[in-house]
Amino acid sequence: MPHVVCEPCIDCRYTDCVAVCPVDCFHEGERMLTIDPEKCIDCAVCIPECPVEAIFQDFDVPVKWQQFIEKNANESTAQPVIVEKKTPLPGAPPRP
Ligand code: F3S
Repeated sequence: MPHVVCEPCIDCRYTDCVAVCPVDCFHEGERMLTIDPEKCIDCAVCIPECPVEAIFQDFDVPVKWQQFIEKNANESTAQPVIVEKKTPLPGAPPRP
């Protein structure tokens, strides 16, 4: 039951999540991060780190974002691994 990065990450990419991932399963896409479901160990430490609540367990992904389960699985391995926090994208909303 891997975790999934969903729509709120698009054009945001706070990257707080990568700083806590113990297995470096986050990958960096142009507009959002994705999680490699083969590497995710389901620890859930990334969930509370995301300021825009973009990360869900796969069984808990809202219906409107179900397509992100496949997107993470399909795109993550073609993207570079990201292990350090970076500056968010210009489109990121203010931190809550
Ligand atoms: Fe995206 Fe949230 Fe991580 S905005 S980069 S899932 S901290």
